[in-house]
Formats: sequence, structure tokens, C-alpha cells
Amino acid sequence: MQIRDLKLLNFRNYDKLSICFDKHLNIIYGPNGSGKTNLVESIYVLGLTRSFRQINDKNLIKKGTNLTKIEGLVDDQYLNEFKVIITNEGKKVKINKNKVTRLSEYISKIKIILFNPNDLKMIKDTPSIRRKYLNISISQIHIEYLKKLNAYNKVLKIRNNYLKKMFMNGNSLESYLLIITEKLIDIGLDLYKMRQKYIDSINKYIGDIYFKITKSGSLNINYKSDFINKTKEELLTLYKKSLKRDLNFGKTTYGIHHDDFEFLLDDMDLKEYGSEGQQKNAVISWKFSEISIFKSEKNSIPILILDDLLSELDLDKVKNILTFIQSDIQTFITTTEIEKLSSLLKNQSYRKFYVVDGILEEVK
Ligand SMILES: Nc1ncnc2c1ncn2[C@@H]1O[C@H](COP(=O)(O)OP(=O)(O)OP(=O)(O)O)[C@@H](O)[C@H]1O
Ligand SMILES: [Mg+2]
Repeated sequence: MQIRDLKLLNFRNYDKLSICFDKHLNIIYGPNGSGKTNLVESIYVLGLTRSFRQINDKNLIKKGTNLTKIEGLVDDQYLNEFKVIITNEGKKVKINKNKVTRLSEYISKIKIILFNPNDLKMIKDTPSIRRKYLNISISQIHIEYLKKLNAYNKVLKIRNNYLKKMFMNGNSLESYLLIITEKLIDIGLDLYKMRQKYIDSINKYIGDIYFKITKSGSLNINYKSDFINKTKEELLTLYKKSLKRDLNFGKTTYGIHHDDFEFLLDDMDLKEYGSEGQQKNAVISWKFSEISIFKSEKNSIPILILDDLLSELDLDKVKNILTFIQSDIQTFITTTEIEKLSSLLKNQSYRKFYVVDGILEEVK
């Protein structure tokens, strides 16, 4: 899958941009604050309709204007034109000029794997952040995952509200609670299995990739869930046992809404013990594992974005990372250090784009 042309209107610090990209490797360089991350962010928004930065959609609109438009011509066996329009009132998405009302249908079309230095949050931050990453990853592969996840969250909310109601007026129906609980467990089990399967697939690749990048250590992902090795019956018993606690807190104690996972390097948790570089290489290895999963499950190759690839990493590691960028993956790399990067790309052909103050031009 490749993005051919990109057009921006009032996106972040870009007024107007119309640019054609290389099918294989694109280098975006320029000083700090010039618009490198903004550019790759616009590609990400084109695919996923929202930013990878945790911000309100409105922040994407150029200050002083009230609408931003991102358009891209994407080649995935066929050429399709994608469009995202964001205003203060909301957003609209279109494929080939036809409005798509369900975002979930739009989101599954363009596959993007992005690494941004902020992604170290995947290791450093709270379980809820890690779940978010996992949810986005699996949703890009299985559209039904997102639907199930939405259903789960709805039922969880209903259950929690009902618990509060039961606590307040004591005489609510336990039989109704049982129905909701069963539903929650059923959907939870489906999601649990999909998460487990996904992490198993990541583990098929991640150790190898990490070793090839760093030449040391054995990396794998450990999935943690209340649902591990539990049957529906065992879970029902667990929920029954925790009913008193659930009522007191007005919350559901057990469930996949508490799932977490950890990056283990030689059995040590990178969150607690890893260096910045180790963490970065681990997250990049996760991203490359995702590409392999895409290739095997979807028979399609996502677009790869490596934002600020060089920061925190020594040149050897970057060199090893670059060996994973095969010619069939359209890749965007941003950097402030073009000489360093081009010295590592001697034998590869690529196009480079210089950006300053939201003006981007190809440099030949
Ligand atoms: N909504 C907006 N409207 C106008 N300008 C914006 C908007 N959002 C961000 N900017 C500007 O974009 C610039 C940051 O761009 P970006 O994050 O792409 O920089 P960068 O080239 O990736 O820099 P670095 O090398 O530090 O990562 C800042 O100058 C910021 O003020
Ligand atoms: Mg940046």
C-alpha cells in the first residue's frame, strides 16, 4: 500500500501543500519545529481519522482558520482517493468523493504503522495507554474487534450503572445483573482471545527483530489479563464472589478492561529497568512485528512512518533498523540530521523533502 499524492489545507503549520511521494523511501528533514511530525501526522490522520498525539481534533486545524482538509491518493491494488475534513463542529470522511458515515468502515482501509518518540509511552505509561495501543493495532487488522470493543464498553457502562443503582435502592434485580454479567463475560472472552492471539503473533517476530537490531538480549511480550486460562463458568464464579466489592465501588472489578502487557528483555521488565535506547528499540521491534503480521494475515503491506528515527539511537542500531525497510514497504522517515541519515542510506534510492516553517519541497 502506498500513498501517491498528499494534499493539505490548513493543517497545523501548513497552509497549502500538494506533494507526490516516492513509492519506497521518503526522507523528510528540517530543523526543530519546522513541520516534520506535522506532515507524518497528516498521513496518519488520513488513515485513522485522528492523530497519534493525544489531542483534540481541533488542534489539527491551522490557528486562525476553521477547517482543515487532508486528501490522499492511495494505491492498494486500486487507486482510491481518501479525504478527511475537520471543522470545529466535527469531521467528515470520504472515499472517492462518497461520504462514509461509519468511521469504523473508513479506518480499516489505509494501514499505517507509525513510530514516534512518544510511543515510548507504550512501555513507560499506564496500562490504559498500552490497551489503547493494542486496540488500535488489532482494529487495523480485524474490523470486528473495534465493534466488539465498543459493545464491551457499552455493556460495562450499563453494568457499572446498574451496580450503583442496586447499591442505592437495594431491591434491584439480581437476575438482570446476571444477564449483563454473562454478556460482559461473553464479549470479554472474545476480545481476550483476539488479544492473546495478537500478542502471540507479535511474539513470533519481536524477539528476532530486536536481536537483529541490537545484537543482544531476548525480548518478548507478556500478556496479563484476569481472563487468562479461565472458562466462562470460572469467570461467572469470580464475578459472583466479587459482587459485594463491585457494589461498594460501583465498578466491575474483573475484566479485560484491566488487561495489560509488559516488554520483557531477558525476563526483566523494560518499564522498570530498560534504558531509553532499549525501550525505543523494543517499541520499534513491536512496530516491525506488526508489519509482518499484516503481511501474513492481510496479504497487504502497511505504510511505515518512523518519526525522528535517529534520536536516542546510536548509528549501528539505526543501520540495523534500516535493513528491515525492504523495497516493498513505503516508508517515511523524519530527521533533523540529514547527513547522518544519508550516510547510512548510501546504496538505497530515496526521495528527500526539506521542510521549514510549514513549507515542504523536494530536494533533488
Ligand atoms: N494548529 C496549528 N496551527 C499552526 N501551527 C501549528 C499548529 N499546531 C502546531 N503548530 C506548529 O507546528 C510546529 C511544530 O511542528 P512539528 O511538530 O511538525 O515539528 P518538527 O519538525 O517535527 O520538530 P522536531 O524536530 O522538534 O520534532 C510548531 O512551530 C507549532 O507551533
Ligand atoms: Mg517532530
